[in-house]
Amino acid sequence: MTQQVSNSPFLKPFFLKTPVGVVSPRPQRRHTLPASEFRNLNPQDAISVFEIEREAFVSVSGECPLTLDEVLNFLGQCPELSLGWFEEGQLVAFIIGSGWDKERLAQEAMTQHVPDTTTVHIHVLSVHRHCRQQGKGSILLWRYLQYLRCVPGLRRALLICEEFLVPFYLKAGFKEKGPSAISVPNMCFREMEYMLGGQAYARRNSGC
Ligand SMILES: CC(C)(COP(=O)(O)OP(=O)(O)OC[C@H]1O[C@@H](n2cnc3c(N)ncnc32)[C@H](O)[C@@H]1OP(=O)(O)O)[C@@H](O)C(=O)NCCC(=O)NCCS
Repeated sequence: MTQQVSNSPFLKPFFLKTPVGVVSPRPQRRHTLPASEFRNLNPQDAISVFEIEREAFVSVSGECPLTLDEVLNFLGQCPELSLGWFEEGQLVAFIIGSGWDKERLAQEAMTQHVPDTTTVHIHVLSVHRHCRQQGKGSILLWRYLQYLRCVPGLRRALLICEEFLVPFYLKAGFKEKGPSAISVPNMCFREMEYMLGGQAYARRNSGC
């Protein structure tokens, strides 16, 4: 099920050129990992995912959006709703989503994948701490939303976030739906929605 989505248009791989006049005895194989790669995640990526997630959330709120078991569960059930950004083989940022079948997100959405629905619940977007504030979170989210447009049957994406991240998601094209019904002790969330089908221009030119 795992598939490579595409290579980054933002970071081109760097190739060493063979000097003019040097004749290579046989064709050289490239042993380097791709400079930059976007692909769906799979259960083998769960540890790298969880390491980034733990660093991002445990020190801040004491809790991760997804436990390691939940990461494994979602990457096993719906890998096509995830996207990872790898640089030279290392995961630098990721998104994990699952299917949801109601108008608004409810508590059960935190642990459930509902197959064959029109709505994706984005559980987590996280960027490795060494790579933040470089535009990577915005680029990965943009690529993920473009990719979702190409998944047959999907119409929208929903997520919850804390108040301070609302401007980040508004900038990415999400609309605010108001306070979320989902509660975690000492935290409250806003619910955000992104319509996947609304922009014909973006769809026609997205390379689907
Ligand atoms: C939130 C996160 C995904 C953003 O990714 P990023 O690569 O650092 O963000 P970008 O460089 O694309 O920044 C885009 C904008 O978001 C803003 N932003 C990023 N993190 C922010 C934060 N913690 N608080 C407020 N604004 C933030 C930036 O200021 C920037 O705005 P600008 O363009 O007006 O300057 C990343 O900081 C992260 O992984 N944080 C920890 C995990 C998390 O909170 N995930 C989101 C909830 S699931």
